[in-house]
Amino acid sequence: MKATEENTYYIAEISSDVAKEGMVREFKPEEVKDLLSNEKYYILVGKLGEEVAGYVLSTYSWAKIHILDMAVKKSKRRRGIGKMLVKHVISHATEKGLSEVYCEVKARNIPALNLFTSSGFRSRLFSTLVNEGFYVFP
Ligand SMILES: CC(C)(COP(=O)(O)OP(=O)(O)OC[C@H]1O[C@@H](n2cnc3c(N)ncnc32)[C@H](O)[C@@H]1OP(=O)(O)O)[C@@H](O)C(=O)NCCC(=O)NCCS
Repeated sequence: MKATEENTYYIAEISSDVAKEGMVREFKPEEVKDLLSNEKYYILVGKLGEEVAGYVLSTYSWAKIHILDMAVKKSKRRRGIGKMLVKHVISHATEKGLSEVYCEVKARNIPALNLFTSSGFRSRLFSTLVNEGFYVFP
């Protein structure tokens, strides 16, 4: 579901925990609040019951949606939350008539690569000149 201001602290908390794994950045609550009120960003949360278990942060970029960050709490992984979040971003792009959803994933991030590949994304390899960049496109 679309993130609201009441999700601010949960998103910041998850980002802070997951950032320690080195794949996403940490967002302070004030930053999350700013992003939520900025219409250039599209942020979803994935819930298990009433609990926020993960989020995806994306931005509109030309006729595309760029997934900037996505994280699921370590204790709530492998339950389909990540896949559901990606599916919703793709649906949103389709509804808006946008041509592409893309995400830069580090080549060593096997969970994320598997997730995007199994969600229908195609991969394009980039050299280490762009920091181990690995772009995936649907
Ligand atoms: C990547 C991440 C968001 C996946 O979230 P998740 O909710 O666990 O993902 P799902 O349960 O929807 O998994 C979907 C598929 O992704 C793949 N996958 C997920 N975790 C995996 C793992 N640890 N190892 C291998 N494949 C994995 C599997 O193909 C999985 O399908 P399956 O469970 O039917 O085998 C989560 O691992 C995470 O927060 N990682 C740290 C942050 C990060 O790397 N973010 C992405 C950078 S943009």
